[in-house]
Amino acid sequence: MHVPVNAPIITESAKRYVGQAMESGWVSSAGKYIDLFEEKFAEFLGVKHAVTTTSGTSALHLGLASLGIGEGDEVIVPDFTMIASVFSVLYTGAKPVFVDSEPETFNIDVFRIEEKITERTKAIMPVHIYGHPVNMDPLKDIADRHRLFVIEDAAEVHGAKYKGKYCGSMGDVGCFSFYGNKIITTGEGGMVVTNDDALASRVRSLKDLAHSSVKRFVHEEVGYNYRMTNLQAACGLGQLEHVEEFLEKKKWMASEYEKRLKDIPGLRLPVTKNWAENVYWMYAILLERSFPYSRDEFRLKLKEKGVDTRDFFTSSSLQPALRQYGLPEERFPVTEDIARRGLYLPSGLALTEEQMTYVCGTIKELVGNPQVVAV
Ligand SMILES: Cc1ncc(COP(=O)(O)O)c(C=O)c1O
Repeated sequence: MHVPVNAPIITESAKRYVGQAMESGWVSSAGKYIDLFEEKFAEFLGVKHAVTTTSGTSALHLGLASLGIGEGDEVIVPDFTMIASVFSVLYTGAKPVFVDSEPETFNIDVFRIEEKITERTKAIMPVHIYGHPVNMDPLKDIADRHRLFVIEDAAEVHGAKYKGKYCGSMGDVGCFSFYGNKIITTGEGGMVVTNDDALASRVRSLKDLAHSSVKRFVHEEVGYNYRMTNLQAACGLGQLEHVEEFLEKKKWMASEYEKRLKDIPGLRLPVTKNWAENVYWMYAILLERSFPYSRDEFRLKLKEKGVDTRDFFTSSSLQPALRQYGLPEERFPVTEDIARRGLYLPSGLALTEEQMTYVCGTIKELVGNPQVVAV
């Protein structure tokens, strides 16, 4: 059997809407599905504005640029993140300043943020990792005291909540990705959300080449082409209509993995804080030192049996691409440790019970623990 790390479910309504968008002739970035998708996504999160973009990466770039962040500024980001969080800061000319993770949820250690604030710090970018929200209250308290913007990287957490509030809706700006492995997908795509009217118009202007509001084709500043197509928005709308089912499916996945893997010695399963609603974007586990294989050996063994997995992210500060920026040499022990020991198991929305049984059975077989009852 082959079990991919992610396979999406594309709903019938998504297929129908994409077909309608095609037939309408509105295949670029004008068309009714853009408005509908933005409206429904904003409604889902309970925010005032949602603006479509080409990707989560461009959403982050637009968010930062719209807040006026640029050369000479510093933005606090977790060392443990997908590199787009860091690159988006670099695109603006600002400098990323890294903070280590906390070992339970893998999110930024909010209690280590304040020591990184300087007179150049303009914003904090919490990244909600693998489906688990960041501890937002203390983070927002620090941001308020130091008058810093908060730009949430919510690429991985559609529908996750912190103390009842949706991730992405708590900062000045929230940014989402709709890449194929995300809970809502448009193939490629992203969204910037905000409750601030002026900021929303700024995002709309910058994503569309910053045409002057007085005269089209006159540009008083440099903008970008970060426009989503009507076809992608049609797909997004059709997927969004099923978001609650998708979130249920993720809960089912997590509870099945938990039930079937919890007795295997040496596996650290995901932790969910009591203030969090985890959407388990990816079922992310750590191998303890007592586990019979190294992470890489374990992944290889699973691969041989047809089970696809992924490594955790690599410590951003150690990325070769960042050497040219002359950032201070620093080590982040928690990030480095989890990056070495972490992986995620097949977690796509299309994961079947049969595949789940196969994955867990294969793990038990590999570990060879006779005490663990086969499912
Ligand atoms: C945390 C995080 N931020 C940003 C992104 C970038 O999103 P995209 O791939 O849509 O550009 C991703 C994508 O996987 C992500 O996981």
